[in-house]
Amino acid sequence: MEIDNRPIGVFDSGVGGLTVVREIFGQLPDEEIVYFGDTGRAPYGNMDTEEIRAFVRQICGFLVDERDVKAIVIACNTIDALCRDELTEAYDSLPIVGVIEPGCMAALTALSVGLMATQASVDSGAHEKTFRSQGGNQPFYAVACPTLAKLVEDGGMGKPEALEEVSRYVGQVLEKEVDTLILGCTHYPILIPEIEKAAGGKLRIVNPAIATAASLKNILELRGIKRDGHLKPPRHEFVLSKASDAFGTICIAMFDNYVPDISIHILG
Ligand code: DGL
Repeated sequence: MEIDNRPIGVFDSGVGGLTVVREIFGQLPDEEIVYFGDTGRAPYGNMDTEEIRAFVRQICGFLVDERDVKAIVIACNTIDALCRDELTEAYDSLPIVGVIEPGCMAALTALSVGLMATQASVDSGAHEKTFRSQGGNQPFYAVACPTLAKLVEDGGMGKPEALEEVSRYVGQVLEKEVDTLILGCTHYPILIPEIEKAAGGKLRIVNPAIATAASLKNILELRGIKRDGHLKPPRHEFVLSKASDAFGTICIAMFDNYVPDISIHILG
């Protein structure tokens, strides 16, 4: 079996990508991760496409040129929707895994699908296009949730306002009588307690992070580039463009029984 001991680069506009990191920790416990969260500029979801593309070029330049990652995980639906083609072209020798395709595949058995995502993701139509390209022909309803990523970045999860905000968007999904809801923004799994409460058991909730980690695992195995499992336990590096209170809270919630070895660097 071939091996590659270099880290995996995972990035998001902010703290949402930690929901994907959690699943990678669970499914690929020997791998090392360099996580970049652009907390200084998040949320991206209401920004102009060219601005997002410029930020993403900087982040991937850092991951590839300064950290020599062996694969990239776009742990952000908005970036996956808007920058995927550019990244595939720029880094054609690197495996790139996004969250949209695995998330849509996980919803293919639905009777009808609801999607909650950022305004930019919904405007791009990327989720529905991907769902259709995988053979999904069920009704598909997208609801833009322009305030939710910021709510999470500001550490609002668990507060009464969070349930109020979430209920507003979940209510729009329930009106469409769908049976399955894709969480089309990596920040939203942090709000699953609120989403489940608002849904009242009426929706199957798809967290694309689980299928994304499975897809990453598959690619590493196929290419023979997994890290050597006999090495000492992985040491992860988390880089944030600005200090974030929500980051600590989310890490505690996400990595409850598992205490990963993480070094944290704050750039701003
Ligand atoms: N976490 C991101 C996503 O999956 C983006 C949130 C944002 O920055 O607006 O879409």
